[in-house]
Amino acid sequence: MMTVIAHLSDTHIDTREEDDGRSIARTKAVMTYLNSLPYDLDAIIATGDIADHATPSEYETARKLLATRHPLLTCPGNHDERAAYREHFLGEPASRAPLNSALVTARFTLALCDTSVPGEDYGRLADETLTWLSTLLADTPPTHPVLIGFHHPPVPLNTPYVDDIRQHDEHRLAALTSRHPNITAFLAGHAHTPAATTFANRPLLVAPGVVSTLRLPWEPQPHHVHHDLPPAVAFHVLDPTNRLTTHYRPIPLTTS
Ligand SMILES: [Fe+2]
Ligand SMILES: [Fe+2]
Repeated sequence: MMTVIAHLSDTHIDTREEDDGRSIARTKAVMTYLNSLPYDLDAIIATGDIADHATPSEYETARKLLATRHPLLTCPGNHDERAAYREHFLGEPASRAPLNSALVTARFTLALCDTSVPGEDYGRLADETLTWLSTLLADTPPTHPVLIGFHHPPVPLNTPYVDDIRQHDEHRLAALTSRHPNITAFLAGHAHTPAATTFANRPLLVAPGVVSTLRLPWEPQPHHVHHDLPPAVAFHVLDPTNRLTTHYRPIPLTTS
C-alpha cells in the first residue's frame, strides 16, 4: 500500500490590507485542490511560516484556511510565535515551549520538529526538541520508516539570503540520524523554492513557498520573490518497499 503525504509550506497568512488578500487566495487555492482530491491522503504537513506577523487574526484565518479532512500536522517557522500559534491557530493554552508533534501509523512515523528560535530568523533544534525526537526514534521499530520535517533546512541551498538563516548546530541532528537507518528523509520549508538535496546521507526535500517563490542567484532580480509563479505543493510517496519518491505540483490560482 502506498503512503502519500502532501507538503506545503510558508503560507505567510497576512490579513493586512497591504497584502491585498494574496496570501489568503494562494493558500485557499492549495487547500481547495488538496481537499478536492478523490483520495484520502495519509497526511498534510505545513512546515512553518504559517502566519506572516503572528497576530491573532492571522492565526484564526490560517486555522480556517487549513481545515481539512486529511490528517494535518504543522510546525512553526521564524515568522511564527509559539504562544500566539498555540492559542489562536491550535486552540490550545498559550505556552512558549517548542511545538513538536508526531503522527505514528502502522506504515510510517512522521515527526514535525520546532526549529524556531524566539526573536530570531535562523533556526535551531532546542535541547528539549532533540530529546523528544530521540525518544520517539528509540520507541520506533528499526525497520519502520520515519520522515522528519521542520521549517529551517539544515544545509545551504545556494540561496544566500536563506542560507544565512538556515538551521544551525545541525551536527547534533546528523549524529542522531547516524544511529537510526530507518530515518527515510528530511522535509523542510523556509526557502520558498522547491529543492532536493541531502543531509546526513538522507534526502532533504524542500517544499515550495505557497505565498511566493524566491528568485535564484542565476535568475533576473536574484533574491527577490516572484509572485507571478503559482503556489505549489510536494507529494512525498512511500511505496510498499518504503522507497521514497517526491512529486512537485504547481496549483493554478484559478482553482480557488
Ligand atoms: Fe517563509
Ligand atoms: Fe522562514
